[in-house]
Amino acid sequence: MKITFYGHSCFKIVTEEGKKILIDPWISNPLAPKIVDLGPYDFILITHAHGDHLGDVLKLARTAITEVIAIHEIQQYLLKHGIPKVTGMNIGGTYKVNNLKFTMVPALHSSSFPDGNYGGNACGFIITLENDISIYHAGDTGLFYDMKLIGELYSPKIAFLPIGDHYVMGPKQAAKACELLKPEIVIPMHYATFPILTGDVESFEKELKNYGISVTVISLNPGEEISL
Ligand code: NI
Ligand code: MN
Repeated sequence: MKITFYGHSCFKIVTEEGKKILIDPWISNPLAPKIVDLGPYDFILITHAHGDHLGDVLKLARTAITEVIAIHEIQQYLLKHGIPKVTGMNIGGTYKVNNLKFTMVPALHSSSFPDGNYGGNACGFIITLENDISIYHAGDTGLFYDMKLIGELYSPKIAFLPIGDHYVMGPKQAAKACELLKPEIVIPMHYATFPILTGDVESFEKELKNYGISVTVISLNPGEEISL
């Protein structure tokens, strides 16, 4: 599997069977690399309706090749805006498609569309790949103790966790999240995009050390790709 970080909370995953997944498709974020894969993607996942996560979905998902997966309220919004293929779901559900599983899990955050309308609950995703490896994208969230259950139920090997603080977890809470989730690998996200997102990787690693939590931190620069 290949994972590419596009900055902020936007990740591209290419699975072993070659399925292309884009999460929180804000490919025009201030940190985004010059060259971005514009698709078409097989799946685009959206964690909540805030502009920095809804991102460029209205441009990227105008093809029936691409299936957008999001909470019901976002599904309705996207269908109204002419996106052809959108699957709505809700927290707790697992959607099985193409030997992949997408499980919608809670996130502790608000969610509204750019026009101010309610966006449904904010959520995170567990993506279970063809080889049964699970990846957790936390979306925007504060720390919550049910992350322990997410860890027990899905044993995510890789966790994408926000560390930027202010709107999401900072380094201290993100470190504790690793204790609850027990991933092998954590990839920090949602930091440094704006000056107010002050949490950084160095402080995150310091907090992990303080708490004695062992996890491999892979910090990706926007545009960087890893094979796992
Ligand atoms: Ni948000
Ligand atoms: Mn955000």
